[in-house]
Amino acid sequence: MTPTPTPLRVPAVTAGSRVLAFGDYRPARVLTNLDIEKMVETDDEWIRSRVGIQERRIAGDDEGIVELAVQAGGKALAASGLTTDDIDLVILATCSAESPMPNHAAQVAHKLGIQAPGAYDLNAACAGFCYALAAADAAIRTGQARNVLVVGSEKMSQWLDWTDRATCIIFADGAGAAIVGPAEAPGVGPVVWGSDGAQYDKIIIDDRHSFIRQEGQAVFRWATTAIAPVALQACERAGISPDELAAVVPHQANLRIVRAIARAVKATNAVVAEDIVHSGNTSGASIPLALSRMIERGDVPSGAPALLIGFGAGLAYAAQVIQIP
Ligand code: UT7
Repeated sequence: MTPTPTPLRVPAVTAGSRVLAFGDYRPARVLTNLDIEKMVETDDEWIRSRVGIQERRIAGDDEGIVELAVQAGGKALAASGLTTDDIDLVILATCSAESPMPNHAAQVAHKLGIQAPGAYDLNAACAGFCYALAAADAAIRTGQARNVLVVGSEKMSQWLDWTDRATCIIFADGAGAAIVGPAEAPGVGPVVWGSDGAQYDKIIIDDRHSFIRQEGQAVFRWATTAIAPVALQACERAGISPDELAAVVPHQANLRIVRAIARAVKATNAVVAEDIVHSGNTSGASIPLALSRMIERGDVPSGAPALLIGFGAGLAYAAQVIQIP
């Protein structure tokens, strides 16, 4: 006779989670299009009209993804009103780590003075922050964590071929962070996510001796056709109609892609993030970086819904609606 299994005890569930605060960090060094003109055959006018970037930030030699993440994470923690003792999970979204091992989240926690939290890195490339936020939300709702530090941190510059004008004009460095905590009234909506591994080679670093390369036009077509329906589905699942949105924050891939997605979503009352103009494409950091700066400037009201839309290498994508802290 097989014994009846003893049901295992699990923590009580929490109704929802919400973002308590954002923080961001942009490295000090500014690289303008005019600077890049001196490095590869390109020009300011081409970059502005095709990609929308005017300038981007490049991290210093002493700044890796851990240092960038610590800066952004520290700001988010200070703005949240919580202390390091309140954080019990750190999730670091990155696709540009210096090395695969050890994970970087534990070092970020250690440098911030967060004692022995769960800590892991997550790689969903430019969709990474939305994946990490979904993981944080799930951990809080299922009682596995009380408060979570979620960081997107990228040093794309260390994976760039600075003689390849198709990529070195686009990618940049930076970090954005969020503190996520429990909430009786949910402030993080359901994630809509997916992937298309058949297109794994569209944006790729082949091996440890390689640089980022991408099939720009193929990615452009995919981003401007496949992603808006995902974003609309995220709104529907959260019970928010696009005209209620106060902010639309697509991954800052290319200004033309950002605007095409925003047009298709028809969020008529929303401010659309266009942080790419001054920050470049910072991959998994771009969404929290952009939204953090919108909040800091007072562009968006606290409590209003914002739509986050991540997409990129994998190909992987994820979108969710959140309440602006
Ligand atoms: O965040 C990860 C997700 N990645 C993306 O979302 C990237 C999506 N793709 C894009 O943003 C665009 O495809 C690019 C910005 C990468 C390229 O823009 P495009 O309008 O698709 O240009 P293209 O690749 O079709 O190239 C058009 C022309 C070519 O010259 P010919 O063959 O027409 O003579 C390129 O060689 O522009 C040339 N070109 C450049 N010219 C000046 C390519 N890069 C440059 C450059 N400066 N930097």
